[in-house]
Amino acid sequence: MPSLEGEDASAPASPAAGEQKVTLVDLARWRASGRRAVFLTAYDYPTAVFADRAGVDLLLVGDSAAMTVLGLANTLGVGMAEMLVLARAVARGAKRALVVADMPFLSYQVSQEAAIRNAGAFVGQAGCDAVKCEGGGAVVPRVRAMTRAGLAVMGHLGLTPQRLTQLGGYRVQGRSASEARRLADEARRLQDAGVFAILVEAVPPETAAVIREALEVPVYGIGAGPHVDGQLLICHDLLGTFVGEIAPRFVKRYADLGAAMERAFRAYAQEVREGTFPSPEHCYPMPPEEAALLARSHIPGPSSTRIPSSRSAR
Ligand code: KIV
Repeated sequence: MPSLEGEDASAPASPAAGEQKVTLVDLARWRASGRRAVFLTAYDYPTAVFADRAGVDLLLVGDSAAMTVLGLANTLGVGMAEMLVLARAVARGAKRALVVADMPFLSYQVSQEAAIRNAGAFVGQAGCDAVKCEGGGAVVPRVRAMTRAGLAVMGHLGLTPQRLTQLGGYRVQGRSASEARRLADEARRLQDAGVFAILVEAVPPETAAVIREALEVPVYGIGAGPHVDGQLLICHDLLGTFVGEIAPRFVKRYADLGAAMERAFRAYAQEVREGTFPSPEHCYPMPPEEAALLARSHIPGPSSTRIPSSRSAR
């Protein structure tokens, strides 16, 4: 495996605004040169804009939206209709980052035709660049059908939350040598079916390294250690805005925006209640002569309201 430590020092850490859209060719090139890709989830337009400006390379409109933005207990309850709305917003905000839409539960498992239609909707209607679907051998025929239809598909192995019940919960996968080899074999089958990259979730670093070694396409990790071609984090985990019980070991929090939001909402509530918001600078001024006229006039109404001239005239 080429040393990721030996990354090309000339590779920009944070690409300049206006740089060209990241392509699958770039991702393949980066794998060969050891440049690590930066991968983040996004579910809305402003997040996509900020992440894009910050130089994030890939944005995943994850079905984790079910938990991060819709407040559901797991990812099984989100469908194509919701995902298309979110995907369209993210695609609109991402000028440079490659946008990958997560195919939700039962949007590709049911039939080849459903897989192609739904993946096609993410690309054709929502403006995404690629789709991701979970699973190994069982989804190989679906992946092949989608890639043959011209769609760019990312695989997803390891912890695959759409199989939460079968997996017995959010458990680390690939902990044994035989499991690691099985995952590497599934990864090869996905590569043969045409995926441009594989995301590996919640496996030991050794397992991720074995999967990467078995492949030519880039391997990205979330909770899969450092020996991969790029890292994914869930935006809400990184920003400290996830509301829920799950706190995986792999999460690193870079900000505490949840607490900052709550502080801002409390300050707003307090100012509204004590009448200090809005203050004059938040009001539209009326010309003084009009305000004076208005103050003299009687406004018919249940309480015979008079406009207070001092406030409206400022
Ligand atoms: O939906 C998602 O965000 C994902 C990641 C957790 C891998 O699939």
